[in-house]
Amino acid sequence: MDPKLTGYLRRALSHEMAAVQLYLTQATLCELWGLPEAAGKLRHESEEELEHAQRLIRHMLGLGLLPNSTQLPAISVTHSLKDILMADWHMEAEAIHLYAEASQYCSRTRDESGFSLFNGILQEERDHLAWVESWLNDLDSTVLQQTGFNRV
Ligand SMILES: [Fe+2]
Ligand SMILES: [Fe+2]
Repeated sequence: MDPKLTGYLRRALSHEMAAVQLYLTQATLCELWGLPEAAGKLRHESEEELEHAQRLIRHMLGLGLLPNSTQLPAISVTHSLKDILMADWHMEAEAIHLYAEASQYCSRTRDESGFSLFNGILQEERDHLAWVESWLNDLDSTVLQQTGFNRV
């Protein structure tokens, strides 16, 4: 078993489980804040991340790997919908970096099924980032300029 590929799969699964936890927490927060529409959108996002986790687990099981050793980071405190979306923006940008690197690695090692998995999720994470950006822009068109982060 290629340890580098295993590392990418484990990091990706950790990311997806963390994303599920984060979006579900945010959806619940929005419910408590009386923002049912935002809650529904964030809950839907958590379901998309869960589906990514399942694709990774299926791939890992197919390789004879157990989908364990995931590590979930602490969830940062958020006080507003804008806080929530900023946290999501950073998380999705990190996901894109991870999946781009993993896709490139599989391309170099001619691992077609690994490439197809990572590159497929990469495209969807790009859509997630665009979705967060569009929502943020609706809230406040100046927010992204203040982050100091460039679009990936
Ligand atoms: Fe994801
Ligand atoms: Fe995502």
